[in-house]
Amino acid sequence: MKILTFGTLKGGVGKTMLCFNIGGILSQLDYKVLVIDGDLQGNLTNNMGIDRTREGLLTTYDIYNIDEQQPDPEALVYRSPIDRLPNLDMIAGSIFLHKAELKIASVAGREQILSNYLNDHRDFFEQYDYLLIDTNPSMSIVNQNAFLAADAILLVSDVSMNAIEGAQLFIALWEDARKRLRREDNIRGFIINDYDARNKISADFLEYLKTSPDTADLRELLFETIIPRNVRITESELAALPISIYDLRSKGCDAIASLVDEMLARHII
Ligand SMILES: Nc1ncnc2c1ncn2[C@@H]1O[C@H](COP(=O)(O)OP(=O)(O)OP(=O)(O)O)[C@@H](O)[C@H]1O
Ligand SMILES: [Mg+2]
Repeated sequence: MKILTFGTLKGGVGKTMLCFNIGGILSQLDYKVLVIDGDLQGNLTNNMGIDRTREGLLTTYDIYNIDEQQPDPEALVYRSPIDRLPNLDMIAGSIFLHKAELKIASVAGREQILSNYLNDHRDFFEQYDYLLIDTNPSMSIVNQNAFLAADAILLVSDVSMNAIEGAQLFIALWEDARKRLRREDNIRGFIINDYDARNKISADFLEYLKTSPDTADLRELLFETIIPRNVRITESELAALPISIYDLRSKGCDAIASLVDEMLARHII
């Protein structure tokens, strides 16, 4: 079982989109996949077509709610929310993750709550080939749990200087946190998303990334596969279907499938 966590410190760059679609593709490749929504916005949960207001729905919050006994994973995991993807399960997200942040702020081992939960229930989680965790753009303690648990952190960027800065800030803050936690470096990739080939800025951006001394750290992590801007991707989220089901022949799907191939070839996943 491998754990992949998507992160960066800039919002709206495609973390949730990639978590959703990479999860879809891996499950179609016959891997057993669990996606975990660690973002209080619950975007990934919406994409998976789960109604977050459903009575009695257990969510990621229940892992972090230290005032109650943690749930049994059998009850926590939502099995196959997308009919056509029987290999894809989910732990839903919740607005209450905001409360979790306050509750765990001052307890011992606050960054290890998720890792401990996964370890405590190793027999259950070992049924999965991949756990994919979505985060929001912050270095919150809830997110640090997801970064600490990760075998690979994948940074995501759109075509903007702010997104480069967001990734570099992430690297700096996580290096500081993980050293205190005695964790080896686990950032394994840097993904460029939302690339618009018709736009000269996109080409200039890539040139800068590939040549500037200021971006040497990101260059080492950069995937060759670039994900284009593709309206089919946005549509597929509205339809609550991964792009590989919604439109297998779209450019967006092609690129994300190539990215998965590249990750497998590089043994990142
Ligand atoms: N390559 C793309 N082509 C078209 N639309 C895209 C692409 N990537 C992302 N989007 C759209 O952009 C929006 C933002 O993407 P997403 O929600 O994945 O970002 P995020 O990094 O998870 O944001 P946040 O930081 O708020 O969690 C979504 O509506 C998504 O459908
Ligand atoms: Mg998101």
